[in-house]
Amino acid sequence: MIKITINGKNYKVKEGLTILEASKQVGIEIPHFCYHPALESEGSCRMCLVEIKGVPKLQLACSTPIKDGMEIETENERVIEARKAVLEFLLAGHPLDCPICDKAGECKLQDYYYKFGLFEDRFEEEKPKRDKLFRIAPNLIYDQERCILCTRCVRFLREITKTGELGVLNRGKESLISIYEQELIENNYSGNLADICPVGAITDIDFRFKIRTWFLERKKSICPICSRGCNINIHFLSPSFPFKVEKRVFRITPEPNVKINGYWICNLGRYNYHYIDNDRILHPLKRNGELKQISWEEFYEDIGNKIKILIRRKKEEKIGVIVNLSLTNEEYETLEIFFNKCIPGTEIITFGKKSGKEDNFLLTEDRNANRKGAGKYRFKEKKIDILKFLNKKELVIFFGHEITEHCNIQLLSEALKDIKTKVLIASNKGPLINLVDYILPSTVIAEKEGSFTNSQGITQKFYRVLEPLGESRPEIEILTSLAQKSGIWRNFLMTRRAG
Ligand code: SF4
Ligand code: SF4
Ligand code: FES
Repeated sequence: MIKITINGKNYKVKEGLTILEASKQVGIEIPHFCYHPALESEGSCRMCLVEIKGVPKLQLACSTPIKDGMEIETENERVIEARKAVLEFLLAGHPLDCPICDKAGECKLQDYYYKFGLFEDRFEEEKPKRDKLFRIAPNLIYDQERCILCTRCVRFLREITKTGELGVLNRGKESLISIYEQELIENNYSGNLADICPVGAITDIDFRFKIRTWFLERKKSICPICSRGCNINIHFLSPSFPFKVEKRVFRITPEPNVKINGYWICNLGRYNYHYIDNDRILHPLKRNGELKQISWEEFYEDIGNKIKILIRRKKEEKIGVIVNLSLTNEEYETLEIFFNKCIPGTEIITFGKKSGKEDNFLLTEDRNANRKGAGKYRFKEKKIDILKFLNKKELVIFFGHEITEHCNIQLLSEALKDIKTKVLIASNKGPLINLVDYILPSTVIAEKEGSFTNSQGITQKFYRVLEPLGESRPEIEILTSLAQKSGIWRNFLMTRRAG
């Protein structure tokens, strides 16, 4: 640790940091555009200038390392004047786009102008005219007029994805960011460019013009699309929004976690959020010829009685349970207590989503959020003859549609015809909907709390971000209520307490 002074106050900070990093650690904000904690420092925007005692010129906080005894001023008149000058220079070439810019509300140029600028406009010349709708990726639009040439985007593609699709072309006032020879950015992390662009120069087509950012709230969660468990922020419509809109979630962005995802997420995790609002099962349904809405109570009574009768007849092996690999650790624990401990004869098999392509960065081959956690409770995927498993069952409970990725749907449909009672517990509609007698809506990850253990073995807790849609309920709640009606309640409670 070394001693430094910032704005007259003494601090002890870790050696090796830059002035900007040390100031941040002690809670002092130094404005910056080009600095990003995950990228090599470039020192091009000059927004982070500070005064160091004994050094005649102002210095860049983002690239100057701290030294023992250093005395730094981040708020004096000279520094504030320099910041204003940088902002005036940047805004001279910047269009007056805020009212129609998607970044408004979270733009650093806008924020810093209000915080450190507020100068009288002296600009009388014509603003430069440039391309405003330049497609640089299938998912991204680049606005050359808004670009402040901080090169964060260029460095991200050079240092993080190592694909280098963007570069700075031309010199001086003609400089601009561009792709080479019209070759679009096609890598699986391109969505991060819209997040790291400090202004509205790179915007995301999926999000552009859908909603103003100040109508959104954000909460932390975990991405359930693969086994990496990237930390994310879910941006959802504020409950105080005055108009009725069906959509709740508008985008997903990364939440930094250096041990897991750094500052990034992949495009698959970023854009695959529509399942949260679309194609959801909203109410418990029962097929009696045709599908009819029922109450949760009716479901608990019906299936609880069936389980009770099978236990009384000592026919527990007639109960088949098919579990997926994206439930929470707490849900696996509850399943283990319910079926393995309270009804030991039950037959359980596990099926996850089929593997996908990994990309040697964050995205893993395993498209199941919690295979590691399931394994701890002995829910392991095994090669199994599904039709043989279903043979002679009287009650089958499916958690999710995953099984249909592993067998011929026609054969599955035939095998299910002979089974008296088939139950599906799932959040979204899918191929099993037409093959079962009871359909129960479960919550998606964003609507429940629990924990996942990722492919590295790290267990992460997450909390409810949204209210459950329709009548959907978390699996734990469904199992607990069902246990009360299945004649295993005492045993279930005692085992849970003992665990
Ligand atoms: S497009 Fe954005 S991130 Fe890239 S240089 Fe311009 S302002 Fe910076
Ligand atoms: S790498 Fe996996 S966990 Fe991370 S954002 Fe992509 S799909 Fe989600
Ligand atoms: S943040 Fe230091 S020069 Fe840009």
